Amino acid sequence: MRGFGMEIRDFCLILCTVLLPLAGRFLVSFFKLLRVSVDLVSVIFRCGVSAGDAVARAASLRPATLSLRGAMTIHALLPVALALVSPFFLVAPADAQSLVERGRYLVDAVMSCHNCHTPMGPNGPDFSKALSGGLTFDTPAFKVTASNITPDKDTGIGTWSDDDLKDFLVTGMRPNGIPTAPIMPTGFYTRITPRDLDALAAYLRSVKQISNVTPTPDYKTAMKPEIGPYAGGPVSNDDMKDPVTRGMYLVRLAHCLECHTPLGPAGKDYENATGKGGMTFKGPFGESVSANITSHQKAGLGEWSDAEIGRAITQGIGRDGRKLKPPMGYAFYARMTPSDVEAIVKFLRTLPPRE
Ligand code: HEC
Ligand code: HEC
Repeated sequence: MRGFGMEIRDFCLILCTVLLPLAGRFLVSFFKLLRVSVDLVSVIFRCGVSAGDAVARAASLRPATLSLRGAMTIHALLPVALALVSPFFLVAPADAQSLVERGRYLVDAVMSCHNCHTPMGPNGPDFSKALSGGLTFDTPAFKVTASNITPDKDTGIGTWSDDDLKDFLVTGMRPNGIPTAPIMPTGFYTRITPRDLDALAAYLRSVKQISNVTPTPDYKTAMKPEIGPYAGGPVSNDDMKDPVTRGMYLVRLAHCLECHTPLGPAGKDYENATGKGGMTFKGPFGESVSANITSHQKAGLGEWSDAEIGRAITQGIGRDGRKLKPPMGYAFYARMTPSDVEAIVKFLRTLPPRE
């Protein structure tokens, strides 16, 4: 076990220290990481340890029972220890970071939480007070203000657990048992994947705490979520490989069809008029009426090119070059990846034509 043997052990050490961190970066799931470490352990064992049933034992993940040849030195044990231990160090920060990044993307771009929850200054949202409370909605059924959703313990949601927050986002039910007004679009979040929910919780925990008291909500009737069209439970990652399904998912999260569907006799008329537009919005910008975004040739987006639709969503420019008005959050959607915008356009093309 000297000479050449030692060199191979050194090689194993290098393999472990170089390859494992690399693998750790690129592999997202815990099990994939474990498999890599198992593979490396088996490489190590072929190098300098009595191979025998080591691979099988390594695969059963009981490192304490691995039988090492008596002559093994600490030098050869090191890579084994590294191989077994380093995934646990690597997986935590890498995964946590990508969760926070994903959460930031959902909050800032697709779901545009700031559009309601960040106070409006004279030049748009005041990001120095991001997510500390925003718009007030005064309707016959309720008068509510978008809450402080920073981790401030007294005025924000700092005392909510991750599970409180995740439950709330898909049910509209607060931990204190008081349901939210449906202007908070929780009904549109029912399809959200478990990982995206984790990501939202991780990101919202990481934002700056801001102390800001928002008015207590005033409900005139019982509140219940507005579920909207294309409803259902979490979309699976496999289904998400289809761009149209991913587009549907993103359109749900961005609650596009909530604004782009008119009121019927009993609330939004999703049954007959999904995507037909015709909702009027009033604000400091004056008045705007949501557009028909169905595939209808004349009344909808039927004759628009993909690029024209993408430009309207992300830059707020109409087909004729007109600047589109709020409250649609064009500046937030501008942060979406081109591939997500493309998926949204693909899905809009499937909306049955309405006139
Ligand atoms: C269309 C506007 C709008 C959007 C978009 C929106 N919210 Fe809300 N949200 C509200 C309003 C208004 C309330 C308060 C409702 C009430 O009091 O009944 C609220 C309440 C909440 C609450 C409850 C807080 C509490 O203390 O009770 C949380 C948490 C929350 N929103 C998180 C989010 C997150 C996260 C996003 C983005 C993923 C988001 N909201 C997007 C308008 C919005
Ligand atoms: C908060 C309400 C609201 C949300 C959410 C919203 N929109 Fe809009 N949208 C509007 C309004 C209002 C207009 C019209 C603006 C104008 O005419 O100045 C509009 C305009 C458009 C237009 C331009 C159509 C035309 O004929 O000019 C497109 C395309 C569009 N929206 C697609 C979307 C998509 C896709 C989403 C989701 C990613 C979305 N909207 C989310 C309110 C909304």
